[in-house]
Amino acid sequence: MANPSILILAGDGIGPEVMAEVKKVIRWLGDRRGIAFDLSEDLVGGCAFDAHGTPLTDATMARAQAVDAVLLGAVGGPRYDSLDFSVKPERGLLRLRKEMDLYANLRPAQCFDALADFSSLKRDVVAGLDIMIVRELTSGVYFGEPRGIFTEGNERVGINTQRYTEGEIARVARSAFELARKRAGKVCSMEKANVMESGVLWRQVVQEVHDREYPDVELSHMYADAGAMQLTRWPKQFDVIVTDNLFGDLLSDLAAMLTGSLGMLPSASLGAPMANGRPKALYEPVHGSAPDIAGQGKANPIACILSFAMALRYSFDLGDEAARVERAVEKVLADGLRTADLMGPDGGVPVSTSAMGDAILAAMDADL
Ligand code: IPM
Ligand code: MG
Repeated sequence: MANPSILILAGDGIGPEVMAEVKKVIRWLGDRRGIAFDLSEDLVGGCAFDAHGTPLTDATMARAQAVDAVLLGAVGGPRYDSLDFSVKPERGLLRLRKEMDLYANLRPAQCFDALADFSSLKRDVVAGLDIMIVRELTSGVYFGEPRGIFTEGNERVGINTQRYTEGEIARVARSAFELARKRAGKVCSMEKANVMESGVLWRQVVQEVHDREYPDVELSHMYADAGAMQLTRWPKQFDVIVTDNLFGDLLSDLAAMLTGSLGMLPSASLGAPMANGRPKALYEPVHGSAPDIAGQGKANPIACILSFAMALRYSFDLGDEAARVERAVEKVLADGLRTADLMGPDGGVPVSTSAMGDAILAAMDADL
């Protein structure tokens, strides 16, 4: 049987640096575990615009559709800020999400014990935190029509549209309920049913899917603004949170900071199963391209490495190998290794991006 295939789109800014550490982990799996992947690489974001005048070529899009999983670094940077909206680096990422139909974006926020003092919240509020935000990723205000900047009378008007079909809500709700069954069995759905009709429908459909198919899961509903407040007040009340594209974008950044650093958080974006049974999938860190520190060996590769661990688990059925990667991350943090973003209250041992990657490999070696 052919090896599983991975397309690497390292992107811009710190993307290539953190992805270099993921490639080491991939090589390690080949050398030490006999697990081989067919790797290919291509461009996305600003670097693709520089090379081809578009943030994602049709050829790259076709390659992404054909592989078992895409690993993405980060896109964007100040050099591209003045580009026309239609060719901004972010459009490349959004096209991948939309055309691969990656509707369920899994953003776990886990607080590693070694970092519990790094959060802006008190230790007892965040220690042991383990929540999963499931963000709808292919619809809502990110993609709804009409959209644009128009002229009405003698002034301009900017328009975006929040639009959700019943089917779009139901499928992401199912993803959340399925995950909850493997976790603590609780889902909290967040919307603004008090002011938005799309929120009213969201609440109804999530409830219907629950009552019909997942009555064993505990379901609650919260307005998204109150949800943000509760996430900072007592985040451990949550297990799985399911929410729309825009609220999910905001709430996942908020949840990330609870854990100490945005440099820690991975994500998986999953779609429907392909012919081989694997879900369409793209894995990427939640953080951005951090152009201010790019090229200096300061970036934290852990979010990108943990994203690859999610690929091992969700795309390749290698949960044991994923757990080994995660244990290694926990070990190096417990040993006090700290990239620049983690230099906080406990001092710690400052390490570069590549030294962090090497230490994780050494911890994996020791865990064989
Ligand atoms: C994210 C990012 C993206 C988003 C940007 C880069 C388009 O913030 O993945 O959370 O808004 O979805
Ligand atoms: Mg975001």
